[in-house]
Amino acid sequence: MALPKLLRRFSVLIDLSHAFKVALWPTIKRIFHEPSLLFHPQTLSYIFMSHVWTFFAPYIDEHSAAEKAKVITPYAHGVVLDVGAGHGHNIKYLDSARVTKYVALEPNVLMHPEIRRAAGAAGLNEADGNLIILACGAEDTASILTSLEGYQPVDTIVSTLTLCSVPEPQRTIKSLVSDVLKPGGELLFFEHVQNPHPHVARWQRFWSPLWSKAFDGCRLDRPTHVWVQEIGGWEKEEVWGQDGESEDLLFLHRSGRFVKSA
Ligand SMILES: C[S@@+](CC[C@H](N)C(=O)[O-])C[C@H]1O[C@@H](n2cnc3c(N)ncnc32)[C@H](O)[C@@H]1O
Repeated sequence: MALPKLLRRFSVLIDLSHAFKVALWPTIKRIFHEPSLLFHPQTLSYIFMSHVWTFFAPYIDEHSAAEKAKVITPYAHGVVLDVGAGHGHNIKYLDSARVTKYVALEPNVLMHPEIRRAAGAAGLNEADGNLIILACGAEDTASILTSLEGYQPVDTIVSTLTLCSVPEPQRTIKSLVSDVLKPGGELLFFEHVQNPHPHVARWQRFWSPLWSKAFDGCRLDRPTHVWVQEIGGWEKEEVWGQDGESEDLLFLHRSGRFVKSA
């Protein structure tokens, strides 16, 4: 049932209350056992987010499945770098006949066991050399290139619901495309983005500082689809909205397929 307009502006509070309900107590317990964590806010954020994501990911993935299948399955090929792989939910959208190697970039190492499990179920593992898991952030392109020695530049970069979280997103997207993606390679994304309606965008800006605390840096107010377009140098570019989604949402989605000029 559609929520009345004003209530929709506060819908994030429901998600935030679920996030705190599932993640606060386990995080406090970890601090109790390891008080020095209080001096490591990024590690605490990873701990909190790993519990949040265990709760939210299956639901979010189910609701994104049609769009992810549309943007990933027909186009992802060769060496695929999944930026912010989370629990590896994107693996099931890969066409195994076209993908030679899956590189999961996930700075939150607490999520790595889930990536290994999902990859193993799809016949991908490190021992066979068709799975690589990297623990650096997307912004650290130098480390990505060093770790991918022999397999870079990559054929495909996939980002689903991640560009909202990376630091310095414009610089990061640009250097991923210029340094890590092959000429002729594809950048495929499915992201929640800044709403083009200024009144909704104002609410996105309002909630972002609080939201980013619970969801490890995720912001609601980033026009990442526009920033990708602005990089330029694309041979093909296509951006589209999610089927049946109202344009009035705080979480408005855009998918994109961009082919880098050869
Ligand atoms: C909302 S989750 C999406 C996970 C996955 N892409 C999916 O769609 O199921 C965002 C992910 O981005 C990761 N992330 C956060 N900061 C990042 C960074 N700087 N570089 C790469 N990934 C990052 C988080 O750890 C988290 O796993």
